[in-house]
Amino acid sequence: MTFSFGGYGFFLKKNPMKLCFALVVAGAAIIFPTFASANEQAVGRGAYIFKASGCVGCHTRAKPKGKFLAGGRRMETPFGQFYTPNITPDPQHGIGNWTFADFVLAMREGKRRDGSVYYPAFPYASYTNMNDTDLRDLWTYLRTVPAQPEPNREHDLIFPFNVRYSVHFWRMLYFESARFVSDPKRGATWNRGAYLTRALGHCGECHTPRNLLGGLDKTRELAGNKNAPDGKRVSNITPHPKKGIGSWSISDIKGLLQDGSLPDGDFVGGAMTEVVENGTSHLTDEDLQAIAVFLKALPVDVGP
Ligand code: HEC
Ligand code: HEC
Repeated sequence: MTFSFGGYGFFLKKNPMKLCFALVVAGAAIIFPTFASANEQAVGRGAYIFKASGCVGCHTRAKPKGKFLAGGRRMETPFGQFYTPNITPDPQHGIGNWTFADFVLAMREGKRRDGSVYYPAFPYASYTNMNDTDLRDLWTYLRTVPAQPEPNREHDLIFPFNVRYSVHFWRMLYFESARFVSDPKRGATWNRGAYLTRALGHCGECHTPRNLLGGLDKTRELAGNKNAPDGKRVSNITPHPKKGIGSWSISDIKGLLQDGSLPDGDFVGGAMTEVVENGTSHLTDEDLQAIAVFLKALPVDVGP
């Protein structure tokens, strides 16, 4: 059978009973591209969520440069060193044999299929707030990255944190499985900013002060951290005029998130460089505006 119109004409004239078949073929030709592009659209949206959530920095080894999402990135913390796992679709070393339900369980509940729990070095206490569509799109995207047969490395933690079960105590105190709920008293822009900051960008994991047990002090959201997990100082980004970023305009904040530039012409450093590079620099202007509006509306806090 040829795929020219002439060929079809001949085919149909010779065999009118096949008209239905021809119509089905033609129908499929119209429908299939739509299906394909629906999936492509989900992958595209998932790639955006992936960037807004900063997965790549933690799950890709920096030095020496590792394979995309193959894990092995070392995270220094007061509890010891974590080595992030491989999250590529490799069936043996990655998450290739996971179902979407397994993924949701990890992201929202911080649990594995076998019931064991994840350390909060995996910021699921923030990701638990993600909405259904974003989780689904993120999963669709993750299935498309190249599988990497790279084995995971055990964490190297001090007692009692080396006993995975100890995480249950932290969870009892500080983890709550939750979904983001819009605040009807605020506008759409503020709500979008709150979602981007709290659920996806997990900005509070670094910028919110922690108590001795490593729990976030939610009453002082984004007020800065003198003792970040890596031992460094993280800025107060509430609108305090001196201690925070109260003197910054909306476009100053957007500028920093776009390319790391500070209002005084310098560039941001430390862990924020990677947040900008892998994450916020890829966001739409609308989303950056939303984050800036949300930060400007935070309660003023002098910081810890
Ligand atoms: C701040 C670093 C960090 C970020 C950001 C991060 N992760 Fe992780 N992730 C970890 C660590 C550490 C673990 C291992 C936790 C453990 O062993 O208990 C982990 C575990 C996981 C697991 C479980 C893998 C397994 O084999 O059990 C999945 C899935 C995962 N992360 C996906 C993601 C996705 C998707 C994103 C972005 C939305 C993300 N992570 C962002 C640090 C991070
Ligand atoms: C991995 C930790 C980490 C995460 C996650 C993070 N930040 Fe930062 N951020 C930092 C550090 C560290 C600094 C200070 C950098 C320096 O010393 O130059 C900083 C600086 C900043 C500054 C500049 C403050 C100033 O006074 O110069 C802003 C604004 C900011 N972050 C916003 C955000 C937003 C918004 C998010 C979420 C999208 C975010 N950060 C996520 C670690 C982080």
